Amino acid sequence: MQLKTFVSQLLAAFALVTVVALGAPASAQQINPTANSVQEQQLLDALQGQGTVSGRVSIPDQRSADLIKPGNPGWANLHNGTVSTLSIVAILGTLGLLTLFFLIRGRIRVESGMSGRMIPRFNAIERFAHWMLAASFIVLAISGLNLVIGRAVIRPIIGEGAFGTLTAWGKLAHNYLAWPFMVALALVFLFWVVHNIPNRIDLQWIKQGGGILKKGAHPPAGKFNFGQKLIFWAVVLGGAALSFTGIMLLFPAETATPADWQLFQIIHGVVAALLSAVIIAHIYIGTVGMEGAFDAMGKGEVDINWAKEHHALWVEEVEARESRPRGRAATPAE
Ligand code: HEM
Repeated sequence: MQLKTFVSQLLAAFALVTVVALGAPASAQQINPTANSVQEQQLLDALQGQGTVSGRVSIPDQRSADLIKPGNPGWANLHNGTVSTLSIVAILGTLGLLTLFFLIRGRIRVESGMSGRMIPRFNAIERFAHWMLAASFIVLAISGLNLVIGRAVIRPIIGEGAFGTLTAWGKLAHNYLAWPFMVALALVFLFWVVHNIPNRIDLQWIKQGGGILKKGAHPPAGKFNFGQKLIFWAVVLGGAALSFTGIMLLFPAETATPADWQLFQIIHGVVAALLSAVIIAHIYIGTVGMEGAFDAMGKGEVDINWAKEHHALWVEEVEARESRPRGRAATPAE
């Protein structure tokens, strides 16, 4: 009797183990895209099989919950390999070149010394637009760079948990700061475009290499010299490209096919890397690289000797405007 009970219990246990073992692969194939532990590769495998995988979103457009099928295998390599390598090379390369330049040339000084007499350069609204552009760009660049190289470079250093939190906040900042960036970009364009049209005077600046390598060389320049004009157009055109592709990436269902979307992502990454390199050079010149430059955006006014050395034609224009008689009272009688 006891043996019979034991045998029947053994058979029942065997049957249970068999059912569980057979059932396991079936349940493992069920992908829950919103589960925390789901792996990207599992989702992509499921996508190959069933054609669609939908997650959960809290915005009205349910199409944005659909996982996009990577139709272009070259894209993943381009995005993960080329864009991240380009970003690292562009940023570290620029920092390296600037360090070399600083060691060779040192800080560009005001050769005639500071006079203590100031001349207004940028008004409060211009400075507000510049700093809004600068602050939003810097956060966008760092949070964007984290999306490209963070998993390989930052995650091993700070660990999975901290990296997850950082990336989630970074992504939020990236999505929301794009808007003040675009507003500031439009303002800066409107305020300064008239001073940034290339003209014949720029040829002298180009011939003398901007005068930055040789002490005492000061090619004449208006409000902005040719180097600054290049920075202005890089910011305006690069910023416009980033804005356009960024909007496409934010609203994929409305704006583009998956293949377009992948192309926009590559363009976004490449332009961001190149513009970041330009901006690092700009920040260098505006701070440690050139004595007296920061005051222009800090206080809104610069020392007259700084202005005469770097923007002689602009000083002449301002002085001519100020000495010109104004209004009816000053008009000489006929
Ligand atoms: C800490 C960061 C930054 C500093 C210290 C800085 C400093 C300056 C200074 C001092 C000027 C005036 C130069 C002059 O009087 O001739 C200037 C101009 C300008 N800045 Fe910045 N800037 C910063 C970040 C940025 C960023 C992130 C952008 C764009 C994304 C930007 C775009 C511009 C543009 C377009 C101009 C006018 C053209 C030029 O002078 O090159 N700046 N900046």
